[in-house]
Amino acid sequence: MAHVNLANRGSFGSKFGIIAAAAGSAIGLGNIWRFPYVTGESGGGAFLLIYLIFVLMIGIPVMLSEFIIGRTTQRNPFGAFKKLKPDKSWYLIGIMGILAAFAILAFYGAVGGWTLEYLYQSVAGGFHGKSSSEINDMFDVFQKSAWRPVVWQLIFMGFTMFIVAAGIEKGIEKYTKILMPMLLVIILAICVRSLTLPGSGQGLIFLFKPDFSKLADPDRIFGINYSIILSALGQAFFSLSIGMGTLITYGSYISKKDNLGNSAFVVSMADTLIAILAGVAIFPAVFAFGIQPSAGPALVFKTLPNIFLEMPGGGFFSILFFVLLGVAALTSSISVLEVVVAFLVEQFAMIRRKSTIIAGIAISILGILCALPGSNYDVRILGTDVFGVLEILATKFLLPLGGLAIVIFVGWFYGKGKTWREVSNRGHLRVWYLNIYMFLIKYIAPVAIISVFIYELIGLF
Ligand code: TRP
Repeated sequence: MAHVNLANRGSFGSKFGIIAAAAGSAIGLGNIWRFPYVTGESGGGAFLLIYLIFVLMIGIPVMLSEFIIGRTTQRNPFGAFKKLKPDKSWYLIGIMGILAAFAILAFYGAVGGWTLEYLYQSVAGGFHGKSSSEINDMFDVFQKSAWRPVVWQLIFMGFTMFIVAAGIEKGIEKYTKILMPMLLVIILAICVRSLTLPGSGQGLIFLFKPDFSKLADPDRIFGINYSIILSALGQAFFSLSIGMGTLITYGSYISKKDNLGNSAFVVSMADTLIAILAGVAIFPAVFAFGIQPSAGPALVFKTLPNIFLEMPGGGFFSILFFVLLGVAALTSSISVLEVVVAFLVEQFAMIRRKSTIIAGIAISILGILCALPGSNYDVRILGTDVFGVLEILATKFLLPLGGLAIVIFVGWFYGKGKTWREVSNRGHLRVWYLNIYMFLIKYIAPVAIISVFIYELIGLF
């Protein structure tokens, strides 16, 4: 029987290991696919402003809290809370995280599949000579072919499972360190082209000029549309990979010498930078090509090929971009699957390969239902497709509630003394921000998350 050897537990390689690994988890489809589409649906600048406030006031503190719990306990989220409070129900956070992992990876795998399809089309020259309305139709036709999105989704899940089964995701930091900066450079190149398209200025205004009337809803308390506020909160959690224990799990691999506070800050800023640049790459082109900013999940896929077609060397850039996006998606998807696998390995003493296969196959089956929407085999719950239901469940409920529980735990139950010990590496580092951090996790973050929920729920009834 396999057993857990905690002494032999892996850890990230270099000093920058945790930053590279956590940034690899955070930076992915959430930044490049989801951020532009949700911002577009939510009206632009005002949404961005709220999003940024949430990243600073809630996101960074939650991320640091996850690192603290993970590194202190050296366990998966379920085991971590069992270890810290054996006789209390905090381990339910771990269970909720596993649920969230299933929900997220199911639809994430589908979008990972779209990325592979677009890589294939780039290589095969499928976009060549197409008008923007033909590019638009290409996505819809792809979605309607029942098997294509599913096959790509399964291939994407196959890659994810392969890496996690081999236990080499910790080695991936090496590639992350080279490929992420490359992704940054190519996004910058796309930004330049997008910004020089005729009519692009409108996109910048949409993204950066807050128009608070977009947040208004005269029928709700104080006239505010809380769904948009909850969307911003959910997107911050999703993009930063927080609220389900991914970074507790990764935190358990962090070296005792790493600077947790610094890492949480750097990773959050890098993630936010990439999201904003993705917005700068997409929105000018959206307006230049006459696409609706509120086009939904297909927004980026309907916009990008147009930009590449207008770029010198666009065919090459297109291939390079979708390769890098695919890799960025993989370094995120492995971090989601790892949560479930670490749980099975540590709590059930199951071997890594077997737990990866079980978890991976179960999630892939759920993922097939997400890859299908738009096809003739469409499965719907309450009028929304499975993709939409899981996306809302995870981003608007499970992640913010998980994050809420995590900050309450560290703020009110773990205590300032032990928190200081962990973030200061037992007194080796000066933690000038300790009081600010404690204040944010004890009061600001819980009150903010709970109020957004209460106001959103009041509106529903
Ligand atoms: N943050 C990743 C992205 O932006 C997705 C992701 C990875 C994630 N691990 C997570 C989201 C854990 C929520 C929780 O693509």
